[in-house]
Amino acid sequence: MKRAIGDEIVYAVLRRHGILKASLPERVEVALAGIRPMLASHGGDVELVKVAPPVIEVRFLGACDGCPASQLTFHAGVKKAVEESCPEITEVRQVKGSGAVNENAVHFVSPFAAAATDNWVDAGTLEEIPEGGVRSMVVGGEKLLLSRRGTMVTCFQNACAHLGFPLQDGEVEDGIITCPHHGFRYDLGSGECLTAPEVQLQSHAVRVTGSKVEVRLVV
Ligand code: FES
Repeated sequence: MKRAIGDEIVYAVLRRHGILKASLPERVEVALAGIRPMLASHGGDVELVKVAPPVIEVRFLGACDGCPASQLTFHAGVKKAVEESCPEITEVRQVKGSGAVNENAVHFVSPFAAAATDNWVDAGTLEEIPEGGVRSMVVGGEKLLLSRRGTMVTCFQNACAHLGFPLQDGEVEDGIITCPHHGFRYDLGSGECLTAPEVQLQSHAVRVTGSKVEVRLVV
C-alpha cells in the first residue's frame, strides 16, 4: 500500500473514495489550528516543527514563547488537542528557541509529494494566503484555490463539483467553504464534499519550504 500511494493518481483515487484519509501531518495541523484562536487571544501562536510518530515537536511563537504560563497552555491545549485527534501521537515535545521561519524546512502536504522531485511550480508565499481563508490564482493555466490553516496549505482546482463555478467568494468557516452559487459545502483539508459525498474537489500536491509555497499539478 505504501508503494502504491507513492503514485499520485492512485493516491488521488483512494482519497476520492474515502479509502485514504488525511495524512498524519495534515491531521496534526488541523488539531493545532483548532487551538490557535485560544493562543492568539493571548498574543501567541504555535508552529509544528517535526512529525515523527509517536512524537511531534512544536514551538510556541509570540507571547507564548518564554511565557511562564506556556507550559500550562502546552499541556492543557496543544497536547490534548493533538492526542485526541491523532491517537498515534503519544508524546508532544516543546522545542525552545527562535520562532523564525526555517528556510530549509520542507513540509509536504500529501504523502506522494515527498517522492516527487520535478514539476513543482511557484504558488506564492504563505503570507499571501489568508489564515483560515482561501486565495484563488492561476498557475500553469490552471485555476486554483489555495487554503491555509497555519502552515498547512491545500490546493484544489477552483471549480465547484456541482456546476464548475469558482469557489473563492464562498464563505469559509472552520475549514469549510460554502460555494456562493448553490451552497455545496467542502472540507478544505481534504476536498471532500459535505453536501454530496459522491463528489469531491480535484486536489493537487503542495509543498511548503520556509514561507514559499509550490504546487504540483495533476492535469
Ligand atoms: S456551482 Fe457550486 S453549488 Fe452549484
